[in-house]
Amino acid sequence: MGWLLTLATNVHSAEPVSEIGTVDVVPAEHQLGQKLYLENCSGCHIAIPPSVLPTQTWKNLLEDEQHYGARLKLLVDPPRILVWRYLSTFSRPHKQEERTPYRVNKSRFFYALHPQVKLQRPVQLVNCLSCHPSAREYNFRQINEQ
Ligand code: HEC
Ligand code: HEC
Repeated sequence: MGWLLTLATNVHSAEPVSEIGTVDVVPAEHQLGQKLYLENCSGCHIAIPPSVLPTQTWKNLLEDEQHYGARLKLLVDPPRILVWRYLSTFSRPHKQEERTPYRVNKSRFFYALHPQVKLQRPVQLVNCLSCHPSAREYNFRQINEQ
């Protein structure tokens, strides 16, 4: 494994990121939603940070049993609404006329989070780990220098 470059600070606080160790600091009212998201959406693949896809994608994924060739047991309320609040708070809507992406590698928000990064195409979920060694722990701030 290459040496780890841990970004020293983040915009929310001067705490070392290793102590925050996640995507964004999650306020108390969204912590249960995040926990339920991780429980329900990281069984088959890594949990995908909400910021990489538009809000519309998350909405549709939560409503569709048909899931990339797999079949999901849909969440029911109250967990569903808590997960939805978490995902919608930490993602942004795209413009109405834009096509909703269902793959990270089709999402402009994903590329916006990787402005200077040389990404191998096509980007797939399995590739996240090569640069984000703690992606399985839902930590996308620890970066592996390539
Ligand atoms: C039963 C297993 C399973 C569960 C549980 C599951 N997924 Fe998936 N998911 C898949 C499979 C299979 C794929 C397609 C993998 C592939 O083709 O690369 C996928 C792909 C995805 C993708 C597209 C990733 C990309 O860019 O290629 C997203 C987004 C996603 N899942 C979100 C979710 C969310 C949200 C949940 C929880 C509601 C969830 N998944 C739960 C099996 C699952
Ligand atoms: C080639 C290396 C590389 C790959 C592959 C990669 N990333 Fe990244 N990622 C980075 C780097 C470097 C940054 C920091 C970019 C910056 O701040 O300018 C980053 C930043 C991020 C952030 C923002 C973290 C924050 O500070 O909140 C998220 C979220 C993220 N990546 C998710 C993913 C996901 C999901 C995948 C897989 C689909 C992925 N990345 C694949 C290198 C990579």
